[in-house]
Amino acid sequence: MAKPFQRVAVVGTGTLGAQIALLAANAGYSVNVFDQQPKAFDQMIQKLQSDLKAKQVAPFIAFDQWDACKRQIQQFEKIDAAVKGVDLVIEAVPENLELKQEVFRQLGEIAPPEAVLATNSSSIPVSRLEKSSGRPERCLNLHFYMALQGMNIADVMGGTRTLPEVMEKGINWVRSLGCIPLTVKKELLGFCFNRVWRAVKREVLYMWANDFVDFRDVDRAWMKFTGREDRPGPFGLMDNVGLDVIYDIEMVYYRNSKDPKDHPPEALKQKIESGELGVKTGRGFYSYPDPEYLQDDFLKAGN
Ligand SMILES: NC(=O)c1ccc[n+]([C@@H]2O[C@H](COP(=O)([O-])OP(=O)(O)OC[C@H]3O[C@@H](n4cnc5c(N)ncnc54)[C@H](O)[C@@H]3O)[C@@H](O)[C@H]2O)c1
Repeated sequence: MAKPFQRVAVVGTGTLGAQIALLAANAGYSVNVFDQQPKAFDQMIQKLQSDLKAKQVAPFIAFDQWDACKRQIQQFEKIDAAVKGVDLVIEAVPENLELKQEVFRQLGEIAPPEAVLATNSSSIPVSRLEKSSGRPERCLNLHFYMALQGMNIADVMGGTRTLPEVMEKGINWVRSLGCIPLTVKKELLGFCFNRVWRAVKREVLYMWANDFVDFRDVDRAWMKFTGREDRPGPFGLMDNVGLDVIYDIEMVYYRNSKDPKDHPPEALKQKIESGELGVKTGRGFYSYPDPEYLQDDFLKAGN
């Protein structure tokens, strides 16, 4: 397949941005990265590697390929230099509308005029960012998941004026990385699979916060139901994403609907305030690095 882009830039190399950069390098793209924290990329790559090893997950890109991928990735201290000469920029900065609008405004000014601008946002339709960029016809949502853990899927959605050829390039780029594009035909909050996942999160958080069930039973049932006893259920998954990230995403849905049922529960906020953010702080719903759901007897009995 012909490459839809030659050189790509990733802005924000935390949990997702670092994975996207690695995927792109693995597929043979020249990759530039920029993060406002200069050590973010290296630290995240190290963290992803040790997390995957601790969880004994076979990574989507074999560990012995990571160094070669990293050599394809150039790190920059200034965003202007990072986006110079690229034909795709994907941002993966934190889930905050004002921040992303500001990044799109900046990219609109400094990226080459023909470059496509994509957001990895989990919940913000690109229609809310496109205007800031000054090039709405070249903007789209490309929402990746934890590809290195085997979730090699990505939602693809256009904004109000995205050109068909830009959608096609986005879809082909996702495919060229070895991911399955999930194309959204008209704007939908939550995109394709993320909307399904979101419905699950809202329900299980409600059940936990109101003390209807023990969260472990939800995870046990999920693991049995999906036939994936080696993968966590919704609560373990939320720990992996980061409970602060989950909270911010839920707030985007709430602000959109203003429906109190969409507001993330207070109990989740309390966990975040007490530093229980999930895997990254060693404690969320479960404790890490040896979460209960990976222990042999987890599926033997309910609570
Ligand atoms: N964590 C997940 O599982 C997940 C899954 C899919 C999509 N996403 C989405 O991806 C995006 C990033 O999430 P994440 O979990 O990787 O966040 P993260 O906090 O791990 O990483 C964000 C990175 O952006 C950097 N940053 C902040 N402001 C910046 C700026 N102005 N310019 C450059 N870099 C900046 C930070 O230093 C950090 O390294 C969010 O929109 C999130 O909704 C996250």
